[in-house]
Amino acid sequence: TRAHLTLHPAFRVGAVDRRLFGGFVEHLGRHIYDGIHEPGHPTAGPDGFRRDVVELVRELGVTTIRYPGGNFVSNHRWEDGVGPAGERPRRLDLAWHSTETNRVGLHEFQQWLDLVGGELMLAVNLGTRGVPEALDLLEYTNVPSGTTRSDQRRANGREEPFGVTMWCLGNEMDGPWQVGHRSADDYGKLASQVAKAMRLVDNRLQFVVCGSSGRNMPTFGAWERTVLEHTYDDVEYISCHAYYQETDGDLGSFLASGVDMAAFIEEVVATADHVRAVKRSGKRIQISFDEWNVWYFTRWNAQEGTFDIGDWPVAPRLLEDVYTVADAVTVGGLLITLLNHADRVTSASLAQLVNVIAPIMTEPGGPAWRQTTFFPFSLTSRAARGTALAVTIDAGTVTTKRYGEVPAVAAAATVDDGGTVHLFLQNRDTTGPATVTVDLTGFPELSSATATGIWDDDPYAANTLTEPDRVTPRPNDTASISGNIVTITLPQVSWTRITLA
Ligand code: AHR
Repeated sequence: TRAHLTLHPAFRVGAVDRRLFGGFVEHLGRHIYDGIHEPGHPTAGPDGFRRDVVELVRELGVTTIRYPGGNFVSNHRWEDGVGPAGERPRRLDLAWHSTETNRVGLHEFQQWLDLVGGELMLAVNLGTRGVPEALDLLEYTNVPSGTTRSDQRRANGREEPFGVTMWCLGNEMDGPWQVGHRSADDYGKLASQVAKAMRLVDNRLQFVVCGSSGRNMPTFGAWERTVLEHTYDDVEYISCHAYYQETDGDLGSFLASGVDMAAFIEEVVATADHVRAVKRSGKRIQISFDEWNVWYFTRWNAQEGTFDIGDWPVAPRLLEDVYTVADAVTVGGLLITLLNHADRVTSASLAQLVNVIAPIMTEPGGPAWRQTTFFPFSLTSRAARGTALAVTIDAGTVTTKRYGEVPAVAAAATVDDGGTVHLFLQNRDTTGPATVTVDLTGFPELSSATATGIWDDDPYAANTLTEPDRVTPRPNDTASISGNIVTITLPQVSWTRITLA
């Protein structure tokens, strides 16, 4: 197939917010325990955090990190995770049918964030809790001193406030699986009260209200409208969550998952702007796409229902998907969709980070390694700065079962302050390569093209404990620039980044 693209500095989507490259760390399975925290591991520091994992997280290039859940947060008491580590309660984690030891809590997690260089985005529990506990937590994290909670923080070893500005008002409250699941009306009223009260403590805060946990939820659309009718003046963001997987061997539809994500974003934007019109508001709500990834959800569902009342394991192996080249190409496609909506999606979190549907895997006492999906994320996060450009694309199509005819090639581009342009390309064609030409007339100063990407003769190749470097990014030497035209051949089922300087 063929595709012709045009880039021009005047065609802009918007500024790229660095929060677009956020991650998500939930107390779930082996994410915290035996993942990022493993005292006794050869690379662990005195704090118990594995330095090999710290290095990989830094290399991945995640920015803001959402914590501590996820479904976990809806039955979580934040106080359990502060104070002397040896005295912390062990609790039932109802979301993941596990025992939460609370060995790692707020202080430890912030110490780890300081090592990896991330911004904390904190979720409050609106499943089993409400205004008083959210206010207590905020007093603990953000008030300098002189009150019970702030002095408790200082006594627990942290003189300076955590200074958290991004707050999630609960998690997936539309989902029947959520502890404390509510109707849109009930949740909207509660979220508004919590945000208003928290803002009285700290007027620097930014709030994310829960949107739908998926575009396929029966309440999708109506949920967003009702929740925003209650909270429009109180919040900055509404969340979107989406997970994709290949089902029934339908690789074509899976690779085109970005088409679904784009529709989801555009529908939430339309709904938010509708509420804006009804309210005659001058404000625009942004999207925090704070859970997105490939997740083989159906494989996990098949493991459900195998627990009994005495069986509450600590850090069981849960949701440990092994990702393939096709998964990485899909993740790359989802990143392209996020960049193409950078005007309204100004926060996002890859879900999750270590061991649990994660780009980074670890073995207790053993190595840590990069999954295939690590690469499109790190290559995009490192490069996509400055302004997202609106790429004009004239491409051949592929026919997919789920989305009908879609462009065979998806593309996004950014230009940074130094004038370097990065082009991100996905070839969704499962039958052959794509020949791409790019018109750069608007960027006459660009003279070199360097391309790197992910593809393989076997789209199901993966990195594993025994073969951790089976899949790595490779240079695409077909990229060339002549006059104002860039030419490149994209292998079938591939994701590519071209740097134009
Ligand atoms: O990321 C795994 C789970 O997916 C999260 O806990 C929840 O918010 C979502 O349903």
